[in-house]
Amino acid sequence: MAEIESLLREKRVFKPSPEFVRQANWNKKTVREYRKLGEKPERFWARMAREHVSWFTPWKETLRFKWPNAKWFVGGKLNASFNCLDRHLEGPNAWRRNKAAIVFEGEPGDVRVLTYGQLHREVCRFANVLKNLGVRKGDRVAIYMPMIPELAIAMLACARIGAPHSIVFGGFSAEALRDRIHDAGAVAVVTADGGHRRGSTVKLKAAVDEALRAEAGSVRNVVVVRRTGDAVDMVPGRDHWWEDLMREASPVCPPAKLDAEHPLFILYTSGTTGKPKGILHTTGGYLTHVTTTAHAIFDLKDTDTYWCTADIGWITGHSYVIYGILANGATTLMYEGAPTHPGPDRFWDIIERHRVTVFYTAPTAIRTFIRLGEEHVRKHDLSSLRLLGTVGEPINPEAWMWYHRVVGGRRCPIVDTWWQTETGGIMISPIPAAVDTKPGSCTVPFPGIHAAVVDDEGEEVKPPDGGFLVITHPWPGMLRGIWGDPARYRETYWKRFRHKGYYFAGDGAHRDKQGYFWVMGRVDDVMNVSGHRIGTMEVESALVSHPAVAEAAVVGRPDEITGTAIVAFVTPALGFEAEAELVEELRRHVAHEIGPIARPAEIRFTDALPKTRSGKIMRRLLRDIAAGREVVGDTTTLEDLGVLARLREQEEE
Ligand code: WTA
Repeated sequence: MAEIESLLREKRVFKPSPEFVRQANWNKKTVREYRKLGEKPERFWARMAREHVSWFTPWKETLRFKWPNAKWFVGGKLNASFNCLDRHLEGPNAWRRNKAAIVFEGEPGDVRVLTYGQLHREVCRFANVLKNLGVRKGDRVAIYMPMIPELAIAMLACARIGAPHSIVFGGFSAEALRDRIHDAGAVAVVTADGGHRRGSTVKLKAAVDEALRAEAGSVRNVVVVRRTGDAVDMVPGRDHWWEDLMREASPVCPPAKLDAEHPLFILYTSGTTGKPKGILHTTGGYLTHVTTTAHAIFDLKDTDTYWCTADIGWITGHSYVIYGILANGATTLMYEGAPTHPGPDRFWDIIERHRVTVFYTAPTAIRTFIRLGEEHVRKHDLSSLRLLGTVGEPINPEAWMWYHRVVGGRRCPIVDTWWQTETGGIMISPIPAAVDTKPGSCTVPFPGIHAAVVDDEGEEVKPPDGGFLVITHPWPGMLRGIWGDPARYRETYWKRFRHKGYYFAGDGAHRDKQGYFWVMGRVDDVMNVSGHRIGTMEVESALVSHPAVAEAAVVGRPDEITGTAIVAFVTPALGFEAEAELVEELRRHVAHEIGPIARPAEIRFTDALPKTRSGKIMRRLLRDIAAGREVVGDTTTLEDLGVLARLREQEEE
């Protein structure tokens, strides 16, 4: 609570410079007009859809909402890859044919630039490759790749033929990949031999083989890009080299004319149960949302070199490395590797060499750089930067100030953008020339977006009280469902405030007297580790799948760098000793089941877990123990008070 109070006492306010305001895409006046228009969200978004998106056929109805299912731009037809590519090659923007679409830098230092003309050609060829492999409109394609241009080519090729992609972050394990491939019923997998990471290679193809070993399920073809040159096994008939297929493919492929509600992609994210959920996004609304927000919030111009450091395997990469950025005809930078390889200044070196103008990253990265020391930043000329952004977790005011001062040279506005995999695009954020910023606040909702902080009953709380963050009106980029699980969609997001019809985001927040939002973090059993969502239950099920584990409970503990560190309380199975070796074994096991990001920072053994009489694990209590806090509050419902005492003793040892 002390933290919250100090946040709400944050008095510093930052205004954009007159130079920034003068050149901005949206100034105060535009935003005032749009906020007015946005009081009727449909009217605002219809205008944005006309201004920022190209349609083959106009829509008949802007929004059709039948709780909890929304359809946007009903009857409209378009294609996302056409919007990201073709429309920059004709008409008044035809000069963009020879403009950089993607500037790629690999971790070993190799640089490749693809112009819009070249990217279009490659996407058309790969779209034909997919068609030649029998991939049809509506078929799902899994993509498991490093951050290389072929990843962008593969996703845009899927969009071109109307085959929804399901991108699985390259840091996920073979096990996690298998679940996602099968849940989506993917017919093909696009991968690479490997990717470069921290001076070594991540073996992606080997993981695909492991994922498909027991059963290929619906997968008929695997396409492999040669990236690292590592030796791989190729299964005859199933596996193909990218370059072989591309050589034979025609570079002509007309974009499919797709319904506005045609599925564009599925992206898995962690929730409160053990199984990740496939978040479904469709074409017209999503594209309108991400293109408009990228234009207004990142203030994109033809002269920009924009760099978002997120991996395309997360929603931030989908929306703001690829779709929203290319749809604006801007230059997007893609970097393959680790932020601190080969030295702590890799990011600043990239910004200097490529003259990056707009930079978007996560608070956890900023906190890492603070710890590494500002001399690594100071070594580089960052004068090209004009705008900074953050996403993924709350940013503490100190980190915000450091970003502002050391990276932004006190001249760049900072856009702290709040949104989620489910929202598709940015929901709450400053518009840099129009909204003054306060360190630690994502400020106010985008025009046409309506958010509130409410109590248990769904009534708006009075500032500065805290409550649940909700979205009170449908928005174009909203998820259209959870793949294959409509009941879970209703339960998770809509049931809690059913009587109000609000979307429940799962975050806790406050509003101050000016109406600014201060997001505090998740209020459910989802942890945010380095800006990545991991479900406590997901880690628990990974742990109990190990024969040495009888029972496990996982909680988050506050961590200075990663935001949250994963702490697991484990009861060993009969015949297993609580030893240091087992700790290492279990940490490895979780990394194998989910991926290195889910590896617990700490594992504590206990002979029983504290439970209520009805058998529910008392997480609040475990959270206090994990954080080394005094255990406060009511513990009278504890099934076995001795358990608590023993956990405490262990700590004091
Ligand atoms: C958190 C990432 C505070 C939040 C785009 C949300 C944030 C979850 C912010 C979604 C922010 C994201 N300030 N918290 N600016 N941005 N979050 O699905 O808890 O990976 O619910 O989407 O990240 O994470 P996801």
